[in-house]
Amino acid sequence: MSRDSEAARLSERLRQSTLAYFDVLTLYVGQKLGLYEALASAGPLAAPDLAARTGTHPRYAREWLEQQAVGGLLAVDDPAADPQERRYRLPEGHARVLVDRDDPLWQGTRPHSLLPVAWRMPALLEAFRSGGGLSSTDQDADARVAQASLGRVAYLASMGDWIASMPDVDGRLRREPPARVADLGCGAGWSAIGLARAYPLARVDGFDLDPDSIAMAEESARGCGVAGRVRFHVRDAADPGLAGAYDLVVVFEALHDMPRPVEALRVLRRLAGDAGALLVVDEKAEERFAAPGSDLERFNYGWSVLSCLASGMTGPEPAGTGAVMRPATLRRYAEEAGFVAVEVLPVPHDGWTFYRLR
Ligand SMILES: C[S@@+](CC[C@H](N)C(=O)[O-])C[C@H]1O[C@@H](n2cnc3c(N)ncnc32)[C@H](O)[C@@H]1O
Repeated sequence: MSRDSEAARLSERLRQSTLAYFDVLTLYVGQKLGLYEALASAGPLAAPDLAARTGTHPRYAREWLEQQAVGGLLAVDDPAADPQERRYRLPEGHARVLVDRDDPLWQGTRPHSLLPVAWRMPALLEAFRSGGGLSSTDQDADARVAQASLGRVAYLASMGDWIASMPDVDGRLRREPPARVADLGCGAGWSAIGLARAYPLARVDGFDLDPDSIAMAEESARGCGVAGRVRFHVRDAADPGLAGAYDLVVVFEALHDMPRPVEALRVLRRLAGDAGALLVVDEKAEERFAAPGSDLERFNYGWSVLSCLASGMTGPEPAGTGAVMRPATLRRYAEEAGFVAVEVLPVPHDGWTFYRLR
């Protein structure tokens, strides 16, 4: 391929990326202002009706509706009608992605995770220069909402199937006396709640550094009626003072964010003791770096550069793992923490690998 056509291809790719970025930003507008919900409950709607229902200005509502229809997120019934009278609706199936938080296809809070990255950009640029980190407790509220809501459905629907890939652990969690489970880096708590719902006898302790995430988790546990069996604590997973004896210790999507993963794994090993099991679930990564890479590697590197690496660069002598934690890296951490084997469990999942450490 000639240099000119290479350049043209890259130029076109970045132009297309701008369109994708507009999808993300205008999705945020629609979510924050309740525009999709109003269309789902009362559509088809013309701009003045949508504006009246959502407390927005009709001129802004009209521009957003036109932009969404041109972009294919909304449908318009009568495109030739007067702009004030054209009626817009969610096409068949779009409510699942844009309105229904309980649907596995929900993406409504995707921008809530991406926008805070832009708001933290000055601090990230400074971290690039200084080599410092950005604490995971120093997050925007939207980022917490996104982290909580994007994983929630899978944690509630699939936790039992995932744990069943370890039949001995599944059996223990179903038996008396009630099993104890620790969830480290539990964030807003949906994995801990999913565990409690899948195993009605189990008692679960969730731990996270971030007090705001823990407050969200406590509220969700109360709302789900499991607060008697699920407790949440603001604690560092690498805190050697963390005590307890657990039948199962889990870490979902958090080890790569921890600046001291080996210390954390040592603590986890102690919490599980000789009889307990340890499950680490983290982003799926290829065995080796290759470029160009798959969409999943691009996705994980995107998160890594913009957020996860900075979390893992805080405090003294940070590991700086990043979101692309290759299996060999996890095996090295596990070995340094005193584990003798790392088994990849046969759990079908597009984005995560399930590791059992022994
Ligand atoms: C990507 S989020 C995942 C949260 C949750 N497990 C989930 O799947 O939704 C990573 C979490 O790890 C927490 N975290 C990072 N370092 C930690 C540490 N050293 N101890 C405890 N939690 C930590 C962060 O506060 C954040 O809530």
